[in-house]
Amino acid sequence: MKVIFVCLGNICRSPMAEFICKNYLNNQFSELNIEVNSAGTSGYNDGDYMHPKTAKMLSINNIDNKPFVSKKITLQMVQESDYIFVMDDSNLEDMIDKYSLYKNKIYKITDYSNGEYNYVPDPWYTNNFELTYEILNLSIFNFLKSIQEGK
Ligand code: 4NP
Repeated sequence: MKVIFVCLGNICRSPMAEFICKNYLNNQFSELNIEVNSAGTSGYNDGDYMHPKTAKMLSINNIDNKPFVSKKITLQMVQESDYIFVMDDSNLEDMIDKYSLYKNKIYKITDYSNGEYNYVPDPWYTNNFELTYEILNLSIFNFLKSIQEGK
């Protein structure tokens, strides 16, 4: 199974999601065979490392943050993925506009937040990387649990 996390810049939210998910798969959910990737809709930061505060949030939670290079989503990534998780309604609209053929596998990651959150606010604007971590950690755990339980 392949999962890709998608945000606007691929330097704040989706890299955080990628590494949180990989960490779960290396530990609590090690029996699951899931390949994880991330990308941005914009390509604004192509070739860059993740935002320093994203790297910091990961390391204070003992989660790896390397290797990483920011990249723009491609048709091939969309085609190869089983689940495409976006962060907010703007990402969802951009992805569905461009990849309408694949809309049935595009979801907001907060669909797995037990109704607690409706989107992942962009810390590029809010500077609240802690909230991003909290929402992603909860939602990704619930997603992996649902796969583990075969739902
Ligand atoms: P992200 O945040 O979508 O969570 O990676 C952003 C990062 C960079 C920009 C916008 C959002 N930017 O305009 O460069």
